Amino acid sequence: MSAHQVEGENAYSDWWAWEQAGHVKGRSGLACDHYRRFREDFDLAKQLHHNAHRLSIEWSRIEPQPGRWDEEAIAHYQEVIAALRERHLEPIVTLFHFTSPKWFSERGGWQQPKATEQFGHYVERVVEALGSSVRYWITFNEPAIYVYQGYVAGVWPPGQRSWPAAFRVLERLLHAHTMAYHLIHARLDSQGFVPLVGFAKHMVVFTPCNPRSRKDRLATWVRQSYFNSAIAESFERGHLLPRLQHLLRRSIHRRYLDFIGLNYYTRDFVHFKGWTWGKLFGEVCSLTHHPDAGVRNSLGWEVYPQGIYQCLKQLARTGLPVLVTENGICTNDDGQRTRFIQDHLAEVARAMSEGVPVLGYLYWSLLDNYEWHEGFVPRFGLVEVDYATQRRRMRPSARYLASIAKAGQLVPGNGTAE
Ligand code: BGC
Repeated sequence: MSAHQVEGENAYSDWWAWEQAGHVKGRSGLACDHYRRFREDFDLAKQLHHNAHRLSIEWSRIEPQPGRWDEEAIAHYQEVIAALRERHLEPIVTLFHFTSPKWFSERGGWQQPKATEQFGHYVERVVEALGSSVRYWITFNEPAIYVYQGYVAGVWPPGQRSWPAAFRVLERLLHAHTMAYHLIHARLDSQGFVPLVGFAKHMVVFTPCNPRSRKDRLATWVRQSYFNSAIAESFERGHLLPRLQHLLRRSIHRRYLDFIGLNYYTRDFVHFKGWTWGKLFGEVCSLTHHPDAGVRNSLGWEVYPQGIYQCLKQLARTGLPVLVTENGICTNDDGQRTRFIQDHLAEVARAMSEGVPVLGYLYWSLLDNYEWHEGFVPRFGLVEVDYATQRRRMRPSARYLASIAKAGQLVPGNGTAE
């Protein structure tokens, strides 16, 4: 889960301001009221035999004004981690999941030179407060998606449409990541507790719309090289152009990842768009008429289980352990969710049997939640949330995943699991 999507009343963040300004379909409001109900939500996770839980810390709650630290909010997250530990749920903590304090954005966000330093102060406070009660740290969730939506498509804050700005921000996120990597290790290694620091990489399987078209294959290759490979390599090596460095025979010895998080949802069919900058990435062609496209989720994304295997195999080449930090489906047909889980886990198992070091699998998401500019309509949850009453109801797919978690091995599901 991520803070803004479930906690509710996240009023000091840039996303909240974006919603109030009417840029999106629905406002997050009380969301799942998880800020108050975290204990009962963790009880559900425990009943479902989960042994890990991913959450994000909300920077804007901890530092609502520049340099003003909210001790109550810090204590809240300490209680959250303690509540997870009491239930034997391993906390997986994300430091930045798309939202920033409003003041940070107003000062220019990640485009201002001081951004890394400001983020550093926040990271320092979090590490000081949570310290050795957290082993798994994720610095950034999906940097490329964040940059694309906020600085190229302009549908998320700060709503810009500029490739140069996008690259500047990406570079800054990379520096912020290496800084946070050092900081977490510097603070915690000496305590005899070795933290594992990574980031969550969104990967999409790309395939040409027309496999016989050279241009479609080229656009597919550009997307694959950039969105999937280059960004993962940059975060691992702490350099935006690690391959160029390699060509220049400058070896980069350091590594800035102890593990890599994989967020996997779908496959895209790519169509050539043109030779100019930006267009080289091609465009995604409509699945409606594509003969190879499989079933889709309620947002129209193709369900393509083999893709998780392909991504895991690709990431395995880094030699790093991989944690599946997100994999899930939004659907109003819960039988489809059960099949999704079954088919994707079978592919994860296939990758593991071929030696890919998979640390774990986190389904997205425990609860239905606020899906950014799509609002509350998409239902990703194992647990249904009735937003009017805040009542939770376990879906059959939740029980199906629970039976796998309990047994520690794959069990057959018939799509109507109870
Ligand atoms: C994001 C989540 C989001 C999910 C489903 C991921 O890209 O990390 O915040 O809810 O996908 O769209």
